[in-house]
Amino acid sequence: MRIILFGPPGAGKGTQAVRLRERFQIAHLSTGDLLRAEVAAGTSLGKEAGALMAQGSLVPDEMVVGIIEHRIEKDDCKGGFLLDGFPRTIPQAKALDSMLDKHALSLDHVVSIEVPDEALLERITGRRSCPNCGAVFHIQFMPPKVEDTCDACAHQGLHQRDDDKAETVRARLEKFHRETAPLKDFYSHYEPESLVRSVDGTGKPDAVYARILDAIGADVADETPPAMKAAN
Ligand code: AP5
Repeated sequence: MRIILFGPPGAGKGTQAVRLRERFQIAHLSTGDLLRAEVAAGTSLGKEAGALMAQGSLVPDEMVVGIIEHRIEKDDCKGGFLLDGFPRTIPQAKALDSMLDKHALSLDHVVSIEVPDEALLERITGRRSCPNCGAVFHIQFMPPKVEDTCDACAHQGLHQRDDDKAETVRARLEKFHRETAPLKDFYSHYEPESLVRSVDGTGKPDAVYARILDAIGADVADETPPAMKAAN
């Protein structure tokens, strides 16, 4: 299965990606995470990307296209993958089409997680993540069991992303509406048929997850994926 998780900053793409990755045993490719790893490693790409990310701007198309092109050729993507945060512009979507054509692959679904802007700011400014394993929490909506401590790896000291301050979030939302939202139309008019599965992203993460499974025609299985147990 090859899925794009589409939605504005804070829609819950990363939160749902963890569940879908485990359920379908597919690779999770987050351009945000891949870029943050470059920033942390201090590479020249990371230095250029980090400055743009800190302002809430998109990094150049060729940079993320190069990262994804390299990544989808790895063995763990052979059984399918989930793209989180890519594509984000029409040129990126066209580049993805070329990559897929080259490998005789196709997309199955573009899951569009829909959340009103007012809720997004609250979600993002309350987000905390584990610097050790990357698990994501929310101080109000998905708090860790022990304050400031990761449920998954017990690391102490959860971190707020540099681009999660209110001012930067507004810039990211503005970029989403201007540059990324048109992709929904692009994938709605995809040949031979629309790939867009719109899902209400409000309510609890478990409810959103169930709606996603329903939208992509998967069984809403009784078993609870391990990631959900950890987060609940
Ligand atoms: P990226 O890391 O991709 O950020 P984003 O798309 O802005 O998305 P977020 O990670 O902020 O949100 P999310 O939808 O994953 O939400 P989450 O699950 O964490 O990109 C960062 C930057 O990198 C970009 O601004 C850009 O500069 C650059 N970049 C990346 N890709 C690029 C590309 N393709 N082209 C160019 N530049 C690129 O949830 C958010 C919070 O809400 C969490 O605290 C979570 O616990 C909570 N939450 C989740 N679900 C719920 C729920 N149902 N109810 C209540 N709270 C919830």
